[in-house]
Amino acid sequence: MAMAESWIPNRFCGSVALVVGGAQGIGKAIAVRLAREGADVAIADVDRKMMAGTVKEIRGEGGSVRGIFCDVQRPRSVNAMVERATRWKGQVDILMYVAGVGKAIPYLKMDERHWDLTLNTNLKGAFLVSRAVAPQMVERRKGKLVFMASTNSWDAEAELAPYNASKAGLFLLAKTLARELGHYGINSNAVGPGLIRTRLTAPLLKSRKFMKKYENLIPLGRVGEPEDIAGPATFLASCDADYVNGVLLFVDGGQLA
Ligand SMILES: NC(=O)c1ccc[n+]([C@@H]2O[C@H](COP(=O)([O-])OP(=O)(O)OC[C@H]3O[C@@H](n4cnc5c(N)ncnc54)[C@H](O)[C@@H]3O)[C@@H](O)[C@H]2O)c1
Repeated sequence: MAMAESWIPNRFCGSVALVVGGAQGIGKAIAVRLAREGADVAIADVDRKMMAGTVKEIRGEGGSVRGIFCDVQRPRSVNAMVERATRWKGQVDILMYVAGVGKAIPYLKMDERHWDLTLNTNLKGAFLVSRAVAPQMVERRKGKLVFMASTNSWDAEAELAPYNASKAGLFLLAKTLARELGHYGINSNAVGPGLIRTRLTAPLLKSRKFMKKYENLIPLGRVGEPEDIAGPATFLASCDADYVNGVLLFVDGGQLA
């Protein structure tokens, strides 16, 4: 099982984190972990119901958290959300861009709508949010940007053309910001999860045929849990990663080994 219950007390005290796509799955595990480690956590998501549940759960543990509605496909919604998140505690020190969608569709049946939905959510949304958050980090000469990429940033999977393209683009966006904003004391990195048990992968995990094939590809012999990603992602947001800039940290049980 994942090391779900390990965390480092007070590691993020005094830091404000914005977790975009934090209502459930990997984003939720990251939000929970950041709050347990003392951060003030703003969760932004398009799913109001799941977000309310996560906020309640974190508050129940004594965490400092608020939820802010945001559809990352809409620039005005992104700007309003970042403004509200910043006004809450006066700053955003950590951005976790986790929002993402992905659906398998054969290339010859792919329509523009699906392509645009995937690219807009996974890649353009990351541009819109990081562009809105970065100026205050530049001003304070301090900030951590963490983008949720994928093993698909490196290895293509059939029937996932826009997902693969968006995640490869996301890694290069993270690297570009590492080059361009590093001078301002801002670190920009990406995390590349393998197969993680969430709503996104639920249909795949139900398929015996898929699982038989997939489990053989993972040297550690198990599917990952969202908590397996929370540790590496929060490491990249911590001062232990002050000299880590422009990397894609794969967290995949060895799938790409
Ligand atoms: N689960 C995996 O195996 C896996 C593997 C590699 C990468 N990832 C990436 O990790 C991230 C999280 O995935 P997950 O598996 O936790 O999925 P999930 O579906 O459980 O969570 C995704 C979250 O993003 C939010 N979101 C989607 N569209 C949005 C929009 N337009 N505006 C705001 N929020 C939006 C959803 O409401 C949801 O809360 C995604 O970027 C995904 O591509 C997941």
